[in-house]
Amino acid sequence: MPTADLDALVEEARAAIAATESPDDLTRVRAGYLGRKGTIAEVLRGIGKLAPEERSQVGAAANTAKRRVETLADERRAQLEQRATLQSLEEHRLDVTLAGAAPAAGHLHPITRVMRDMVDFFVSLGFSLEEGPEVETDWHNFEALNIPKDHPARDMQDTFYLEDGHVLRTHTSNVQIRVMTGRQPPFRFVAPGRVYRHDLSPRHSPMFNQIEGFMVDERVTFADLKGVLLAFGRHLFGDDVELRFRANHFPFTEPSAEIDYSCELCDSQGCKMCSGTCWVEWGGCGMIHPRVLERCGIDAQRYQGFAFGMGIDRTASRRYGIPHLRHLFEGDLRVLEQI
Ligand code: DAH
Repeated sequence: MPTADLDALVEEARAAIAATESPDDLTRVRAGYLGRKGTIAEVLRGIGKLAPEERSQVGAAANTAKRRVETLADERRAQLEQRATLQSLEEHRLDVTLAGAAPAAGHLHPITRVMRDMVDFFVSLGFSLEEGPEVETDWHNFEALNIPKDHPARDMQDTFYLEDGHVLRTHTSNVQIRVMTGRQPPFRFVAPGRVYRHDLSPRHSPMFNQIEGFMVDERVTFADLKGVLLAFGRHLFGDDVELRFRANHFPFTEPSAEIDYSCELCDSQGCKMCSGTCWVEWGGCGMIHPRVLERCGIDAQRYQGFAFGMGIDRTASRRYGIPHLRHLFEGDLRVLEQI
């Protein structure tokens, strides 16, 4: 084959290579020129048949042509690969500036939040945290608290009795007995927890939470009780809150009082939440009855103390505007997530 034809062959290969659209395509076209049965190999094989003076000239030209086609194919392969890379990047495009999907995070239950807030306040006053059992003996729940057998608080209507004579505690006051028995004052404790009564309405639930607090020492007075509760009220409801102590009767305190706080929502104007009275019931309190101290083995001549017990759930329902206590206990996430 004359060298001019080899040039034409290279030009033909250049066009064929440039027209390839994929690496496979290119491999096939390249083999057509450079493979063992390809056009250039054929030329090289035919050299033997040429006249001796032509052999070296055609041989050199064929080798040159071979290298040029190789270079053209290599360049085209690089081009095709780059194009494939760009195309894949385009297809799998990732917008790193898009807002991510936030993972659903849990949060504390409103009652847990209010309970912790209350406990934190008393811890800051130097009170310790105590717990008592929810399945309780008659002694701790009633008898030691000076609640005699025929007291209305023991009525089947209110108390859940277990078959073995235990009760579900009806209040957190059992913790007073649990803490004081076998120990000597001074005491400063709060005890939050679940209590149980046979009751159901928008403002009552058969299970609810109370926080009990008490302090016993040599010179504890009702004034200490008022001071502690006023500070507690201000912490929960704001500095302008007022407290009202109404004389009442609890078997385990003497004197006893019920406490109301001034409605923080209506600013003395009367509103739905306080039924127009401007006062909200908060809990009970009093000076611990000497008989209770004695039943715990404490000298009631030497020591006095105050005690109080408040509902936690009502405070939470006011704080978060929840109309029915049921919503607090059902564990319905659709409701809880709105709070
Ligand atoms: N135990 C009472 C109740 O559940 C509340 C209470 C009243 C607790 C007076 C006290 C107290 O510690 O002194 O209704």
